[in-house]
Amino acid sequence: MAGSRLKDFTILVVDDDSLITYSLKELLSLEGYSVKTAQDGETALGMLRAEPCDVLIADVSMPGLSGFDILMAVKEQLPDTIVILITAYGSIEDAVNGIKLGAYEYITKPLNDNEVKVSIERALEQRRLRLENFELKRKLAEKFGFENLVGSDHRMQKIFELISIVADTEATILINGASGTGKSTIARAIHYHSRRKDRPLVEISCGALSENLLESELFGHVKGAFTSAMSDKIGRIEKAKDGTIFLDEIDNLSLRLQAKLLRFLQEKKFERVGSAETTQSNVRVIAAANRDLERCVAQGEFREDLFFRLNVVSIALPPFKDHLSDLPLFVDYFIEKYNKINRRRVRGVSREVMKRMLSYGWPGNIRELENVIERAVILAPGEHITFDLLPEYLRGPVTVASSNGLVQLQVAIEAAEKNAITNALRHFKGNRNKTAEFLEVNRTTLYQKMKRYSLLDVSFKDK
Ligand SMILES: Nc1ncnc2c1ncn2[C@@H]1O[C@H](COP(=O)(O)OP(=O)(O)OP(=O)(O)O)[C@@H](O)[C@H]1O
Ligand SMILES: [Mg+2]
Repeated sequence: MAGSRLKDFTILVVDDDSLITYSLKELLSLEGYSVKTAQDGETALGMLRAEPCDVLIADVSMPGLSGFDILMAVKEQLPDTIVILITAYGSIEDAVNGIKLGAYEYITKPLNDNEVKVSIERALEQRRLRLENFELKRKLAEKFGFENLVGSDHRMQKIFELISIVADTEATILINGASGTGKSTIARAIHYHSRRKDRPLVEISCGALSENLLESELFGHVKGAFTSAMSDKIGRIEKAKDGTIFLDEIDNLSLRLQAKLLRFLQEKKFERVGSAETTQSNVRVIAAANRDLERCVAQGEFREDLFFRLNVVSIALPPFKDHLSDLPLFVDYFIEKYNKINRRRVRGVSREVMKRMLSYGWPGNIRELENVIERAVILAPGEHITFDLLPEYLRGPVTVASSNGLVQLQVAIEAAEKNAITNALRHFKGNRNKTAEFLEVNRTTLYQKMKRYSLLDVSFKDK
């Protein structure tokens, strides 16, 4: 369903008040949705079982099955259906209970056309992203067999295509990219799609150990090779026999070890530290570097011949800020991942959060986003990641914004608007009538803006 238009979605409205079902049907049909209605819960559930819909709008208080009853049945039987509850004005308790039971959102009577439209658009946008994500993953898996890779940006797609071609060869691969761009992830994907996948994948970071320790870790040593060498030890290259070795941070390898590695790459032979005996190991090499290895070569820090040996196939991962069109997919992907791990049911991020994320520069790349989402999923009390769940540095004044230090006009305007509303609400201790009057907007507008800026649940009484 990738690329499906929001208007292709179906909506079922259930309310015992026929005036409401009638007016919602009219409103939403005019918007282009396909809308069905039911007058009671039993009928609605029957209709859903016969033909599931994308969004169910249900009134909480109805004779017979209540909106809550329907919600619970739907969550159990058709968990993908988005449920929006209609609650009586002022019954915050109903609203909160509904959200706890898994409703996507609640709208209050008397219904405001705009509020209804916005609510549905937002719910469907989340749903579209989710479907797109599933679809993309399915396609990737089908086309390349990469179930755990996300990315629809053309650069990422090119990379996936490239690794699908080279994975099952013996080619040495050099992956370049800043921290957190996915180098280790790509290295693993390559190994697990090669014919060596049932043999070990051994990873070693060349930047983490001292030169001598690294040498003995890589090539092994014999007893007595150095003071602490109490017994023979095989190195990682031998452990990776018939499999793959992933040499991470290869740009940190000393010139002496570069020479030793080069010999191994050329002849598949090496000696354990302290031994004269030559050992052989058939290993495929994947290397990764944070820095541009060509530049290291130019600066005399990296052997040119080794660079050419490694660089048979090279993969350059772009910084995350250069493929931010992938951000919504990654957000969804990580929400799903951390929902599973933490048994949460977060469904998405608020519009404001998405906006902020899209205007941020992500110096820590995909890993930084993953950390932000993990934290927010764990802390989220409800189904949405709201602005307050972002780490302090992301919530800060909007001027941090984009990677080039500039702020889009819309972002700046919204920050100012949120500020003005927050200040007025504080001044009037949360009284919306007085706040709206002071700001010279009507109550509905104030309500919508408070919702947009996640201010509805904030208490301004004692501030
Ligand atoms: N294309 C991708 N699809 C899904 N997840 C990804 C992708 N790229 C990166 N990730 C996730 O982002 C996180 C960071 O990626 P990874 O560890 O591969 O980065 P790295 O470039 O190896 O970083 P470092 O230089 O710090 O070692 C990982 O948790 C990984 O699961
Ligand atoms: Mg890594």
